[in-house]
Amino acid sequence: MFPKDFLWGGATAANQFEGAYNIDGKGLSIQDIMPNGVRGPITEIPTKENLKLNGIDFYHRYVDDIKLLSEMGIKVFRMSIAWSRIFPNGNDQSPNEKGLQFYDNVFDELKKYGIEPMVTLSHYEPPLALCRKYDGWKSREMIEHYAKYCRVVFERYKGKVKYWLTFNEINVTVISPLLGGGIITPREQVTKQDLYQAAHHQLVASALVTKIAKEVDSKNEIGCMINAAANYPMTCHPDDMIQVMETQQEIDYFTHVHCFGEYPFFADRIYKKYNVSLKISEEDKTILKNTVDFISFSYYNSKTVAKDTSKYDLADGNLHRGLKNPYVSYSKYNYPIDPQGIRYVMNHMYSTFGKPLFVSENGLGTIDEVEVKDDGTIFVSDDERITFFNNHISEIGKVISEDKIPVFGYTAWGIIDLISAASAEVTKRYGMIYVDLQQDGSGTLERTPKKSFDWYKLIIETNGKSLTPLK
Ligand code: BG6
Repeated sequence: MFPKDFLWGGATAANQFEGAYNIDGKGLSIQDIMPNGVRGPITEIPTKENLKLNGIDFYHRYVDDIKLLSEMGIKVFRMSIAWSRIFPNGNDQSPNEKGLQFYDNVFDELKKYGIEPMVTLSHYEPPLALCRKYDGWKSREMIEHYAKYCRVVFERYKGKVKYWLTFNEINVTVISPLLGGGIITPREQVTKQDLYQAAHHQLVASALVTKIAKEVDSKNEIGCMINAAANYPMTCHPDDMIQVMETQQEIDYFTHVHCFGEYPFFADRIYKKYNVSLKISEEDKTILKNTVDFISFSYYNSKTVAKDTSKYDLADGNLHRGLKNPYVSYSKYNYPIDPQGIRYVMNHMYSTFGKPLFVSENGLGTIDEVEVKDDGTIFVSDDERITFFNNHISEIGKVISEDKIPVFGYTAWGIIDLISAASAEVTKRYGMIYVDLQQDGSGTLERTPKKSFDWYKLIIETNGKSLTPLK
């Protein structure tokens, strides 16, 4: 069912995982003014007291963490490089050697166990100083600084890293100005014009570094990273179906540029709807022609839409939040749980864009029940998470074996518990490895495999044969 070289793995991001936010020359990133996550208020002055829970200390524990991941049998580890660890202010003359050395150590450690790294170059963590100077990606100047940083890491890690993702969930820029676009201006003052222009600068930057990556090493494989959702109509009323079409196109806008090297035919309609007039130069158009090798995406939930939403209940969701769909179940956080949606998304992506797919994020954020045994050790029986993964991965199996779509890997989000992006919580856990860290910052940070650890290990060992088909 799964190809024999299928890349099974886990995904993380530096700002939610590494900790050590100000160690060894690291500068602050935009995350350091978001102590409450994306959904909470930001802080003007980052101090230790108001920094959000600062990761789970992978920075100091990577040797043991990677060993534990290797015991699980993973083949690929998705991580991000913290840009501000390499260029603390974003525009420094030369890179921070200690930051570069840290990632060298991580890649060397992964190599020991034959684990392939997949590196996101920018996962919601551009340097704060740069974003303050330019109001983030609203300014074209960001492109050259990002390109410089990317060239440095491509050159440094040549031969160590083959898979790169340019921007995490690039389509989030038009939804979340600070998180996606590093835009410091308060969101109420940010216009759609600002957001689409910022997204354009990122799309040009993404294409430019795709070009640089290939120049540095023709073996590099570059992917885009899209925050995906299956979009459903609330009813079969044509108005609702048109709503689905438009919602989907606002996501496809980003994938299209990455795959075809130009804006899609429906872009003008989007600009008209939002009163946007994109400033795009001839040079930009040439740069955009550098297309990606594969599409990676995150999928957490489906989204149900309607033209008139007033009579329906709302559901929550990762970033795509819609109406309550009566045909799916819900997580403790009121996210729709919809494994068939991932199959739908993958078929849509492959039939529209025709590039190989990689599932770079999927997982269940929930509150784990921790059992303390008589000998004082702890255990987490996370059956709900196992069911979630089983059902989503078995649908991916169908995508491969029945729909015949090339899919080359899967990384479960937050494979080791980490800090949530939306709410800076650690109570909402995604991992197959429990971390003793509590919301008030207490805890030993000790790692303990959950029940899902052994479950995933078996899935990997049997290359998916031990999955139970979705009923
Ligand atoms: C994705 C992000 O959108 O969702 C991650 O790429 C994030 O950074 C993940 O952590 C899960 O969302 P949350 O808000 O529950 O952490």
